[in-house]
Amino acid sequence: MSKKAAAKKPAKAAKAAKPAKSVAKASTTSSKSLLVENRVFKPDAGFVKKARINSMAQYKAMHVESLKNPDKFFGREAKELTWSKPFTKVLDWKCPNAKWFTGGKLNVSENCLDRHLNGPRKTKAALIWEGEPGEKRVYTYQQLHREVCRFANVLKRHKVKKGDRVIIYMPMIPEAAIAMLACTRIGAVHSVIFGGFSAESIKDRVLDSGASIIITADGGYRRGAVVPLKKNVDDALKAKDTPVKTVVVFKRTGQDIHIEEGRDVWWHRELEYVDAKCPAVALDSEADLFILYTSGSTGKPKGILHSTAGYLLHAQMTCKYVFDLRDDDVYWCTADIGWVTGHSYIVYGPLALGATCLMYEGAPNWPENDRFWKIIEEYAVTVFYTAPTAIRAFMKWGDEWLKKHDLSSLRLLGTVGEPINPEAWMWYHHKVGGGKCPIVDTWWQTETGGHMITPIPGAVPTKPGTATLPFFGVDVGIVDDLGNEVGTNEQGKLVIKKPWPSMLRGIWGDKKRYQETYWSDFKGWYFAGDGARRDKDGYIWIIGRIDDVLNVAGHRLGTAEVESALVSHPSVAEAAVVGRPDELKGQGVVCFVTVKEGIKTGRDLSEELKKHVRKVIGPVATPDEVRFAAALPKTRSGKIMRRLLKQIAAGETLKGDTTTLEDINVIAALSAASGED
Ligand code: PRX
Repeated sequence: MSKKAAAKKPAKAAKAAKPAKSVAKASTTSSKSLLVENRVFKPDAGFVKKARINSMAQYKAMHVESLKNPDKFFGREAKELTWSKPFTKVLDWKCPNAKWFTGGKLNVSENCLDRHLNGPRKTKAALIWEGEPGEKRVYTYQQLHREVCRFANVLKRHKVKKGDRVIIYMPMIPEAAIAMLACTRIGAVHSVIFGGFSAESIKDRVLDSGASIIITADGGYRRGAVVPLKKNVDDALKAKDTPVKTVVVFKRTGQDIHIEEGRDVWWHRELEYVDAKCPAVALDSEADLFILYTSGSTGKPKGILHSTAGYLLHAQMTCKYVFDLRDDDVYWCTADIGWVTGHSYIVYGPLALGATCLMYEGAPNWPENDRFWKIIEEYAVTVFYTAPTAIRAFMKWGDEWLKKHDLSSLRLLGTVGEPINPEAWMWYHHKVGGGKCPIVDTWWQTETGGHMITPIPGAVPTKPGTATLPFFGVDVGIVDDLGNEVGTNEQGKLVIKKPWPSMLRGIWGDKKRYQETYWSDFKGWYFAGDGARRDKDGYIWIIGRIDDVLNVAGHRLGTAEVESALVSHPSVAEAAVVGRPDELKGQGVVCFVTVKEGIKTGRDLSEELKKHVRKVIGPVATPDEVRFAAALPKTRSGKIMRRLLKQIAAGETLKGDTTTLEDINVIAALSAASGED
């Protein structure tokens, strides 16, 4: 379908479920089925009728304005936030440093809570929570406000001030969101650590951020088991010279835990000492809001820094335009609060907009494979946002699990985290969305703070497998190494050519790395680390990471991080880690390992190394396979040839130039090697 046609007739797409064109066979490498995807799904007519943006022409006009006249566009949008002091300038840009809404002051928790208390939202459900064992809690905006104020006073009682860093290492319970909002209320900078990270990872983040306080729980539930969160914190704090003075522990599971006198305090006891009055501090637009650690191409995770006003605006705006959230929606994002998706789309975006947000603690297949569908039916969820890896798992478990439940409340579906294969998209569309719900495939990153490439659901026709077109203010380029735009359907590097409000403001404590990682490949442009192509309709197809970062079940993992965990084991001499295609997880982790003199390789060592990586980084990084080898393929200058290892890991015949290889025999040995050697 041409862009023109899309612009003319979006609202007439009454029979949205029918694809406009069929799939044609052609040459592309983007999906397993090697198809160029030509099916086009126009926005559902029922959806279009109520949508805030309901035509391609409207989307295009807004996008053009946002790029040509960002001051006007974002100045207008920003008026929807509640300011303690109005801003005087929209953007101050000296690459790579952006300042948005300078001169203004506001508070994030006030925008997410207080401002909803003066009308009917006061008694509306802000947060609906279900624990994995089945408990339920509902917080109205008024109740959530009260709990946030109380916990902010607990932080103050422990001398947490504006700018201080607070680590949050919690299960998916309302207290995680309460702790985050409490930090923002007093201007403290939170750093949430995903519960699947280990003691070592906590230690690294504590030391890097210089946090003086950790908020945690005794444990959390995951697939019926208890995750020993407090024990991990205790182990992390065995390290000498940590700056942590206080650990606040929420009682979730009631299991026995160690309490360190003088350091550890119980959440519920602390609340007894405080009242529920806590004014929100007016903060500069550019005040640090949070740090979130993510993997890069070195062994050391980066502390991505986000700031106040621009981030909040983008989170709110995307909830408004991409999810088109309304007061009567029940919105559910299945991400964990420990990832950026949980930050922007469980807490800040939906609450700023006054929405009702559902939060679930546990696994999708506990106690049975229909837990998600059961939740959707029970709470009549209307907007559902999940990851392709979860969709592929549901497909595998079979349609009978869905058939047991009424999913007719759904009106919009979303995905995030990795490219969605067209097969999974179609299944999601038909089986979950009943053929009537638009799907927003949202491309973005920890660094971008919010959606960057995504369909606007009432305006942009979708095609299975593409995130479609850029969001407002996002100027995308797909370029070759010299920065020239590549041709239609040619693969290039994805760059963003203009600053946007929720862009990262830096890497915590490392200005140089910030500049080098994101802004030095192409002068003045942000390089995202992803490859992409643009089709004839201008739709953007994300190919995936082109740096040494893996995407395992939607989670980012640096190959260098896993390698450094492996070489910290006494038996390992050298390690190289690559990804291989995986039907469920998108990518699996394959480790090529050489051992020290005299060490016996085999299944035992392979299992031990997998356990070792889990211990060092956390269960998120568990290798799928360890292959032992006498040597790794290297160039004559000593660089490991990852390209070859990737092909070996995927079981492919080797392609490309091997003449630079130092020892050609290594390849034959590696191809034959396995974890049982
Ligand atoms: O490779 C892209 C992939 O996830 C990376 C960002 O990972 P992270 O910072 O952990 O954030 C994940 C949640 C926003 C990107 O560089 N990615 C994310 N969304 C998509 C995607 N790849 C394709 N399509 C998407 N919709």
